[in-house]
Amino acid sequence: MAEQKIIDGKAVGEDVVARVKELTAELVAAGGAKPGLAVVIVGEDPASQVYVASKSKKAKECGFHSVQHTLAADTPEDDVVALVERLNADPAIHGILVQLPLPGHIDSARVVQSVSPKKDVDGFHFINVGKLGTGELETAFVPCTPAGSMLLIERARGKDLSGLNAVVVGRSNIVGKPMANLLLAANCTVTIAHSRTRDLPALARTADILVAAVGRPEMVKGDWVKPGATVIDVGINRIDAPEKGEGKTRLVGDVEFAEAHKNASAITPVPGGVGPMTIAMLMANTLISASLAAGRPRPSF
Ligand code: GUN
Repeated sequence: MAEQKIIDGKAVGEDVVARVKELTAELVAAGGAKPGLAVVIVGEDPASQVYVASKSKKAKECGFHSVQHTLAADTPEDDVVALVERLNADPAIHGILVQLPLPGHIDSARVVQSVSPKKDVDGFHFINVGKLGTGELETAFVPCTPAGSMLLIERARGKDLSGLNAVVVGRSNIVGKPMANLLLAANCTVTIAHSRTRDLPALARTADILVAAVGRPEMVKGDWVKPGATVIDVGINRIDAPEKGEGKTRLVGDVEFAEAHKNASAITPVPGGVGPMTIAMLMANTLISASLAAGRPRPSF
């Protein structure tokens, strides 16, 4: 059987953050502005609050100017857009992240598209989506979770992914589609699978690189994994864990880890796989934006 390896996303994420810190110090020493990250959250979704707090904390740790705008759940859409426009015009801010999901009365697409493409560190603006889709990776902001997943794949297999079969399970705009575009840009043969895909197990078994991003606990079974495949599990699902005691929960991914691990040559755990990469790449994107604003070359990760 192929060598089995658990991919340490926490360690790779820490490497990325260490490089961001170093380059931030260089940027500031050369007279550039501190990278500025603004995170906007509307409402009180507890999971979103936790994510946002950790983003703000990491930004400070990187030496960034970090601001958080917490708006009431019933804030009118126009007010959210007005805030984004103020941030677009603020020279101390290089990255703007509007935490999703937004409350139901707000048109998320309008808010997301109101972020300046130059400050769009989430990579959700049509300009950046289009650049990624046309292979203009040198000037695009790439969404953080797929960008981080790509770094993990490169760490596991090396940078040359040419000709490999990649299957991405999930077609979201945040993960599935940009992930597929990144793999395509890396010369993989890419298939995007989704809820209507026929015989998903058979398709998954063709994958040298299998990315699961569906948000369904342990949906991808161990025997769907081709021996020697690289498995990237983007899912973070909280499920009941009665074995830990009454009312206890635990986190699992979209992949049945223990069984998949037997077949995979490399696999990300949950937690500790893709999760820490998402936040690290947000820091990387913010540094990239600040570097470009200062007229410096674009750092690569
Ligand atoms: N909510 C869950 N994931 C994300 C993300 O990557 N960006 C934003 N803005 N919101 C999210």
